[in-house]
Amino acid sequence: MRILIVSDLHVEYSEYNRYAVSMIGELAIDECVDFIGICGDISGDYMQFDDALDELSTYGIPILFVPGNHDIWTTVDDTFSMEKLDWMRDYDGAHCLMRSPMVVDDIAIVGTMGWYDYSFADPELEYDDDVYARKYCSATGREWMDGRFARFGMSDKDVADMFNRELESHLKEVNDCRVKIVLTHFAPFLPVQKRAFPKPSYFNAYGGNDGLGRVMLKYGVDISVSGHLHKNFDMMHRGIRCYQTGIDYLHKPIYSLVDRYIIIDV
Ligand SMILES: [Fe+2]
Ligand SMILES: [Fe+2]
Repeated sequence: MRILIVSDLHVEYSEYNRYAVSMIGELAIDECVDFIGICGDISGDYMQFDDALDELSTYGIPILFVPGNHDIWTTVDDTFSMEKLDWMRDYDGAHCLMRSPMVVDDIAIVGTMGWYDYSFADPELEYDDDVYARKYCSATGREWMDGRFARFGMSDKDVADMFNRELESHLKEVNDCRVKIVLTHFAPFLPVQKRAFPKPSYFNAYGGNDGLGRVMLKYGVDISVSGHLHKNFDMMHRGIRCYQTGIDYLHKPIYSLVDRYIIIDV
């Protein structure tokens, strides 16, 4: 099985991000992949989210995705992120891995958006959890925009636990598979985040959670692919090949997706 995986398309950001959708489709054809995987942050605008997946589906290659935090943003006061997430779970034309794993022969592809619980916060900054929960740091004036637009109506720790439990139940289902690949939006291991952002930062609290990684270790996951950090690298961590990938915000045209995608052959 050959899978092309990309993340953080952010198609609403610029015309160059929008154009990357067709580049992904053409790359998938050139590389003869069986699946296109997306690790979230396609677009905060559901129409543009829909348009991007519609366009990508015209290339005729099955699409697997997990949502990212931007995808579940809501700008209408009476809409909650869970409703948007449910719409994505049941999405037609691309398979949301939060609905169910994809199993082909003895290879399982499992996924969740994941969330953050401040377990990746830098202790040397000495901020209380309240500061992270407010998503605004008055000491620095820095704001994490999920505070305005991600509306789950529960604490971040509860959201993270809920998605970690869902991932665990999906991994249980596929426990007999020879190869287990997990796509997440948020980072599952602190060393992955530290590789992307080694310096202490208020925003590191919002990069992932270590419960995600614990679930992956418990079920013998072989490959982890995460997005959200907008970096591209891979590393081994406790026996798991961890890939991090992202198209990123594009301020100018790009002529190739080189170094902005990964291909997995299993
Ligand atoms: Fe992103
Ligand atoms: Fe993100």
